[in-house]
Amino acid sequence: MSNIDRDFILKSMHESRKAQRNWSNEKIDQETIDFLIEIATNAPSKQNEVDFTLAVITNEQKLKEHEARFTWGYHWDKTNSAMHNTQVHAPLIFIYGKTLPEDLYEDIWGADEEGEGINESFEETFRDTQNKSAGISAGQLVLAAHMIGLKTGFNQNTTYNGESNSTWKEWLGYKQSDYYEPMFVVGIGHPDPKLPWYETDNLEYVVADPKETGLTTKGNLDIKSNDIRQYPLGDVFEFEPRSSEYDGTPIQKNVKVKKFF
Ligand SMILES: Cc1cc2nc3c(=O)[nH]c(=O)nc-3n(C[C@H](O)[C@H](O)[C@H](O)COP(=O)(O)O)c2cc1C
Repeated sequence: MSNIDRDFILKSMHESRKAQRNWSNEKIDQETIDFLIEIATNAPSKQNEVDFTLAVITNEQKLKEHEARFTWGYHWDKTNSAMHNTQVHAPLIFIYGKTLPEDLYEDIWGADEEGEGINESFEETFRDTQNKSAGISAGQLVLAAHMIGLKTGFNQNTTYNGESNSTWKEWLGYKQSDYYEPMFVVGIGHPDPKLPWYETDNLEYVVADPKETGLTTKGNLDIKSNDIRQYPLGDVFEFEPRSSEYDGTPIQKNVKVKKFF
C-alpha cells in the first residue's frame, strides 16, 4: 500500500470524526446511495446475524418532517429552550434502529440455568451486541462516505420535544405492537461552502411549554412545544468543535493502548 493511500484513508477518517453542521442543497445520486446502503448493511456482525434495522431517507417531505420533529437537541435549563441537531439536516439520512434479533443459530434456546426455555442472558447479550453491530456498520459507512468526498454527522437526540418510540413507529410505518427503537441518525451530503463545518445558519429553537415541569433537572422536553423562535445572538450558531481545532487540525484522542510488540 502506498503512503498516498494511507494519507488519504487517514485524512478521510479524521474528517469522519467531525460533525458536519450545515449542508448544501446538492442531492446524492442513487448509485451513491445504493453503494452506501451496501456498506452499511454488510458490516461484520456476530454469526453474521442481523440485529439492527435501517431507514434510509431522501424523500424531501420526509426529510422536512424529520428535521422539524426528530432533531431537537437537549434542553438548556437556563433558557428553557433547545436548538436543532443540524448535523442530520442532510439530503440523505440513515436512521439506525433496534428491532428484535434475527437469531439464525437459535442461541436464545441455548443452555439455560433454569432448565428448558429462553436463555435470559442471551437476551441481555443481544442488546449489547446490537449496539456493537450498529456502531461497526456506522463506522464503515461514514469512512466510506468521506472517501468518496461526502461529509457526515451523527445525532442520537432522537426523542426530544414530545417525540417517543411510539411516534417514531408511526412515522416509519411500524405497527405499535412491533419492537422498534431509534438508536441514532447519520446525515450524509455536501457541505454549505459558505460555512465552516461547526456552524449552522438554522437558528430555530424551541421554548418549553409552560406546563412542562422539572425544567431545572431534565434535558428532555416531554410535552411537545410549538413555540419556535429564532436565536437572537447572530447570523450563525456555533457548535464548539471537539474532534479538531478550528483550523481543522485533528485533536488526537487519548485511547489507552497497551502495546505488546
Ligand atoms: C454515536 C454518536 C452520537 C452523537 N450524537 C450527537 C448528538 O446527539 N448531538 C450532537 O450535537 N452531536 C452528536 N454527535 C456528534 C459529536 O458530538 C461530534 O461527532 C463530536 O463533537 C466531534 O465532532 P466535532 O469536531 O465536529 O465537534 C454524535 C456523535 C456520535 C459518534
